[in-house]
Amino acid sequence: MPEFLPFTRPTIDEATIAGVAEVLRSGWITSGPQVKSFEAALSRLCGGRPVRCFNSGTATLAVALRLAGVSTGDEVITTPLSWVATANVVLEVGARPVFVDVEPRTRNIDLDAVEKAIARATRAIIPVDLAGLPVDRDRLEDIARRHRLRVIEDAAQSFGASWRGKRLGTFGDFVSFSFHANKNITTAEGGALVLPDESLVARCEQLRLQGVVRTGEDGMDVEVAGGKYNLTDVAARIGLGQLPHLAAFTERRRALARRYFQRWDRGLGCELPLEDHEQSNWHMFQVVLPERIARAEFIARMREAGIGVGVHYPAIHLFSLYRSLGWREGQFPHAERIGRRIATLPLFPAMSPGDVDRVCAACAKVLAQVPGGAHA
Ligand SMILES: Cc1ncc(COP(=O)(O)O)c(C=O)c1O
Repeated sequence: MPEFLPFTRPTIDEATIAGVAEVLRSGWITSGPQVKSFEAALSRLCGGRPVRCFNSGTATLAVALRLAGVSTGDEVITTPLSWVATANVVLEVGARPVFVDVEPRTRNIDLDAVEKAIARATRAIIPVDLAGLPVDRDRLEDIARRHRLRVIEDAAQSFGASWRGKRLGTFGDFVSFSFHANKNITTAEGGALVLPDESLVARCEQLRLQGVVRTGEDGMDVEVAGGKYNLTDVAARIGLGQLPHLAAFTERRRALARRYFQRWDRGLGCELPLEDHEQSNWHMFQVVLPERIARAEFIARMREAGIGVGVHYPAIHLFSLYRSLGWREGQFPHAERIGRRIATLPLFPAMSPGDVDRVCAACAKVLAQVPGGAHA
């Protein structure tokens, strides 16, 4: 039996591991010089825009909403097909998420539906680049400009992706990245917020750490209740060791995704992701399973074949919390169907093309064994 193939695994080189050990021995392990260097490197990647690091891509979203002035009574339009953090942060700042359905082809928010959902209380839009496939930034910007809305790009999954040749993060309003362990570049846990202009930096730093403002040798004041969201130097050192690999990781992911498209048996009845070989960073390779197999059974059988399968994500509005706030089944049929049947197959830079072939063969075998299977 070959080694178990998880759906993802970080690639961390020995120099980074040695670098982390150095930070641990240095006597300064929380936010310090490594965070400053990481922020400077991220800013260079984002066309010189101001970037501040946080301890998660959830904190970045919450702080961006606060910086955008979103609060009680406001509405924020977003997608139900995302990690629940995307909507939870809206509740956290006292606002109301307004979900609209996704386009089944891209699985990203339907921008026609966004435009229809805009109301007097709408203050912002949070688009999500699911699996690293960018939402149409031209249309998004056009909608936001015409309706005077703020945009907080939830680019948690799309670090390294681009829109019409421009790297995400180099343009737009607020852009939020996550460096969680599963992301294309990781700090174990962490995130970065790209700000629209320098004038927000001071407030951003206050919201990141208890609202504290320091002056002189011993002056301290607090004007706003900030959080405890700072990134540690240990984590930043991991990120600094990851960044030089960004281009190679992205290329590798794209090559593996291409291989999936080449090797996949189209007769199995699965819906493949949109075939984008230029803009997506291929954070995940996800298929929507046919009705004839229960997803839990598919996952269990793939595990028996030594292959890990992930679930990203069930539709947010059907979680108990959101149901209790008034959402119900049937409101967003595409997101609901995809959320029930989507499966994340292995894709990470250390995989070989042969691993992709193994996954494709295992999927074909599992799906052929259920009634109605293409080869049953
Ligand atoms: C789309 C999306 N938004 C937000 C987040 C939150 O990021 P973090 O886990 O770093 O808080 C994630 C992370 O999984 C995500 O995938």
